[in-house]
Amino acid sequence: MRLTRPRAVPLLDPADIDLADPQLYAAGDPHAVWLALREEHPVVRQPLRDGRCFWSATRYHDVNEVLRDHTRFTSERGTLLSTLGVDDPAGGKMMAASDPPVHTALREPLSRAMSARAMRRWEPRIRRMVRRLLAPLADGAPWDLAAAAASFPMAFTGTLMGLPEADWPRLTRLTTMAVAPTDEEFREGRGTLVAAHHELFEYFADHLHATRSAADDSLVGFLREMAAGDRRLRQDELVYNCYSLLLGANVTTPHAVAGTVLAFIEEPAQYARLIADPHLVPRAIEEGLRWSSPANHFMRYTTMEVELSGVRIAPGQAVVAWLGSANRDRRAFADPFAFDVARSPNRHVAFGFGPHYCVGAPLARIALRILFEETVQNVAAFEHAGPVEHLASDFVAGVKRLPVSAQLRPGAARRLSAAGTPRAEGVS
Ligand code: HEM
Repeated sequence: MRLTRPRAVPLLDPADIDLADPQLYAAGDPHAVWLALREEHPVVRQPLRDGRCFWSATRYHDVNEVLRDHTRFTSERGTLLSTLGVDDPAGGKMMAASDPPVHTALREPLSRAMSARAMRRWEPRIRRMVRRLLAPLADGAPWDLAAAAASFPMAFTGTLMGLPEADWPRLTRLTTMAVAPTDEEFREGRGTLVAAHHELFEYFADHLHATRSAADDSLVGFLREMAAGDRRLRQDELVYNCYSLLLGANVTTPHAVAGTVLAFIEEPAQYARLIADPHLVPRAIEEGLRWSSPANHFMRYTTMEVELSGVRIAPGQAVVAWLGSANRDRRAFADPFAFDVARSPNRHVAFGFGPHYCVGAPLARIALRILFEETVQNVAAFEHAGPVEHLASDFVAGVKRLPVSAQLRPGAARRLSAAGTPRAEGVS
């Protein structure tokens, strides 16, 4: 999705806007559309041609309200626009598609297992993975950063989940098919979404079967053994939650990386600030998350009549909280269309808000910190080396292709090529 900086509030008729159209995100200007909606129609009903409809909330405060209050806005019927109108079969079984108390029973043990403290032991391994990822920069040739970043989450989530490395490329592709089924590059036959879900569910069912009697200290093993309240998870619950962890990591993290580097290319002075003061890296990551907002939206259904920004919504309606829009709301962020690596405060909602706040956020933050620490240490500046291409997805603000050339810092070519040698690649 293009990360634009509209200069003025465009005049738009909500009847002409289709926020569910994946092409808007591949070739259009969603930030201009969201800006117009925030200012003129912060809560608006969008009917689709096939008779379904949903409400859009675009202001920061409303987005927080929708995500925060599960008693008025349930997750159990589905949380993505792609499932609009069909109750999610994973409702009440998968953490992301459940409400308390089921959600709490699943979330509490898992969030302890995925806390920043628990994740710290993975740091050396993630650093080796990052060095291997950046190694191709050593020869100075143009490099597709988006394609490389696409494989990054499997390197840490695949490792954490104990999934064989040979499966990582197919799993990466399947998760993108699940969020961008109409994108030409990811379309496989007519039923891409269903086919991707089917293959992923079958993959995890097989994996769980194959590892059932092995000692398994991976996250999958943890899910299998963990007590959700007073019981263990059933097979279907295990499959859904494995799928959700993989999807959560794979479809978001690469685009946080690509969106942040794209901002560095557009604003070289901001990247130069990082080189001058690498202590700014953690803040730059938060700004990169706000800026890229890899998850465009999450959806809820109303359980009762609700009011948002003065608009009444009947019970049983789908309400879409546009995170990408909330993260550019002038009511919450000073100069929201400026990319500022030292922004503070920065209460972005890229990881959501409330009970479903991203359980993978500690891991994602560690992985991004290591990646940008290594980048700042080795790269003096990035430049475009070809056209940028965006993913056709109403859910993921994705960059498919980002050809870059990098100007290296002194000693970087040696460091990077050493990291790419087979000996250094021994990452286990
Ligand atoms: C930059 C990276 C990431 C972004 C931007 C992101 C974004 C989000 C957001 C916005 C939510 C809230 C969903 C809702 O309100 O319904 C969420 C939840 C979730 N994320 Fe992430 N995520 C990222 C990385 C990860 C990683 C690395 C994992 C797993 C290893 C993960 C797994 C999950 C899961 C399982 C949930 C559901 C949590 C719940 O329902 O309590 N995410 N994520």
